[in-house]
Amino acid sequence: MNKTNIENSICCEALAKKTYAIALDGPSGAGKSTVAKLVAKKLGITYLDTGALYRALGLVCLNNGVDVKDGAAVEQCIKDVNVNISYRDGVQSVTTDGMDVSSMIRTPEVSMAASAVSAIPYVRQKLLGLQRGIAENSSVILDGRDIGTVVLPNAKFKFFLTASAEVRARRRYDELIAKGQTVVYEDVYSDVVTRDKNDSSRAVAPLKCADDATEIHSDNMTAEEVAEFIYAAVDEGLL
Ligand code: DC
Repeated sequence: MNKTNIENSICCEALAKKTYAIALDGPSGAGKSTVAKLVAKKLGITYLDTGALYRALGLVCLNNGVDVKDGAAVEQCIKDVNVNISYRDGVQSVTTDGMDVSSMIRTPEVSMAASAVSAIPYVRQKLLGLQRGIAENSSVILDGRDIGTVVLPNAKFKFFLTASAEVRARRRYDELIAKGQTVVYEDVYSDVVTRDKNDSSRAVAPLKCADDATEIHSDNMTAEEVAEFIYAAVDEGLL
């Protein structure tokens, strides 16, 4: 190999290793996970649903009869719990102490528990390293509440996806019904409003749009349209 070929090959290797992160924040029910999955598939990158981590710890507390608003009791309950993420065929699973809890964390009770425990600084600190570690080694899209502000403040791409509370509640209601759960729209709406309040008003890492994020209001957009918008912006930014 001559010198130019060697230089080219080193340069290509460096480019191939270059990873990037997309932060996708927003309130519950905005459609973040559907959109993130579409974008991840199109770009061939990893998707991390960070809410699943808070849900998993919320579930551990519920299963142990712990008051999810009691910071000291929650800390005691989860401090030795090993939370982990794994992927099979691109689908994320979350485990607590080796047990796959992915299918148990999608109930309204766990949603409220996750929102409550996520306000506890110890819980947020415990999950920070895991989220950053996943973003360190590969190109990723993370959805959550504080990705662009706290977890990955230097993410190359940041989006804040939102929609009105009515539209978000309707989407969540349809999703739960499709999964065969018995729910009432008014209860789902009230949970959405309560979670918005909890998630936005907590002292640590509250839900908020990062100053350098692009805000997307999706009341009149399909998930495919939002994903296409994000994909186009990322594609252009990677040139
Ligand atoms: O995205 P989700 O609905 O699965 O999240 C469940 C709860 O977890 C949500 O009410 C707030 C909390 N959460 C958080 O505080 N920070 C994140 N990055 C993700 C979720």
